[in-house]
Amino acid sequence: MINIAVFASGNGSNFQSIYEATQSGRLKANIALVVCNKPDAYVIERAKACGIPCFVCSPKNYENKEAYEAAILAELTSAKVEFLVLAGYMRLVGSTLLKPYKNRIVNIHPSLLPAFPGIDAIGQAFDAEVKVIGITVHFVDEGMDTGPIIDQQAIRIEKGDTRETVEARIHEIEHQFYPAVLNELFEQAAVK
Ligand code: GRF
Repeated sequence: MINIAVFASGNGSNFQSIYEATQSGRLKANIALVVCNKPDAYVIERAKACGIPCFVCSPKNYENKEAYEAAILAELTSAKVEFLVLAGYMRLVGSTLLKPYKNRIVNIHPSLLPAFPGIDAIGQAFDAEVKVIGITVHFVDEGMDTGPIIDQQAIRIEKGDTRETVEARIHEIEHQFYPAVLNELFEQAAVK
């Protein structure tokens, strides 16, 4: 089974759904490590409760981005991690991680990319008054939400929807969608 690391900076509800999918067998993968750049993020509690090791690392404790990512890389290597899954990880990935994990880093973003990249995609979509928003799972490159798209799901904004109701719906769908897309990706990689 493929060994993965989940990168997160906040609540970690996507980590939780990925973990649950590995437990139920819907996602044939093993979470070897959680990487978190925020010492007060709730995902740390979640990882602990699931018995998954969590590497907590504040970028400000390192001299530069290279040193920060080199410390992460050392943890990934010792945990034999083969694939990186970003789930609410609020930092751009640099070449120290991109090179060794070329084509093996994915991210989930709450918009139909290339629309609304970056921070607060749902807020951006609301401000633009679009009627259809969605979710994208994509490979990670050096840009901000710019890598090749793997899969997307559209979500219609209904009359009476508020930012909060849409956000809740997006999260609910993400929790099904991300593990399913990951599983398909790993199955495809296995037959190659
Ligand atoms: C998700 O909406 C994801 O699409 C975005 O960040 C959010 C993370 O939520 N990249 P959570 O921390 O998994 O609850």
